[in-house]
Amino acid sequence: MTSIPVITIDGPSGSGKGTVAVRIAEKLGFTLLDSGALYRSVGIAALRGGIDLRDHQQIAELARHLNIEFGVSSPDSVWLDGEDVSLEIRTDIGSELASQIGAIPAAREALYERQLAFRKAPGLVADGRDMGTVVFQDAIIKIYLTARPEERAQRRYKQLIDKGIDASLPDLLRDLKERDARDSERPISPLKPAKDAVVLDTTDLHIDQVVEQVLDLVSERLVSWRS
Ligand code: C5P
Repeated sequence: MTSIPVITIDGPSGSGKGTVAVRIAEKLGFTLLDSGALYRSVGIAALRGGIDLRDHQQIAELARHLNIEFGVSSPDSVWLDGEDVSLEIRTDIGSELASQIGAIPAAREALYERQLAFRKAPGLVADGRDMGTVVFQDAIIKIYLTARPEERAQRRYKQLIDKGIDASLPDLLRDLKERDARDSERPISPLKPAKDAVVLDTTDLHIDQVVEQVLDLVSERLVSWRS
């Protein structure tokens, strides 16, 4: 067994995994890997560079060499080639591009090595789609968060409206279902819980309750792992 523990938190968008991962990492003083931000950054970089998403070799090259930095201006900030792209990667275009990048096997392979490098003492919290099933199969605990699509779309709608951004709930729901289908049906690293994952449905839970439940599970597991 390796000496650096990894906690994986996977699930579809809007399941609460991003927020939970940030809070758990903060609480434990662990490194955070927001793997979705890597896929999103590659998508935005491809868009900016005018790279055709059908050119898998060039996309893989981009993924391998992209200059991405996390946590420069705030814990969840993402910088691409020295520029803050934290907001841009979270737009709907960013989500759509990331989902398309995620379906390219060569891009996944290129990002695989980069993700392993985040494993540093005293531990790592990794959030994404395939953290428990592929990248960190030896995680000490694997959490899979989910929620009904209608509730996840509603959460996204509220986020946008709160930011003063106009949004349509039916459009958000349609896009979310499309991305879910693409993420779940792709042949490589599809979105699904690991066999040994703890699955938590967050539909009727407040985010604070989710954090509390996950923290309890993780703390318990860490105690037995350390002993
Ligand atoms: O987690 P987030 O919503 O930021 O991920 C955006 C997209 O990136 C997902 O819809 C998925 O297609 C892709 N992704 C992935 N594998 C990961 C993380 C994200 O394929 N580990």
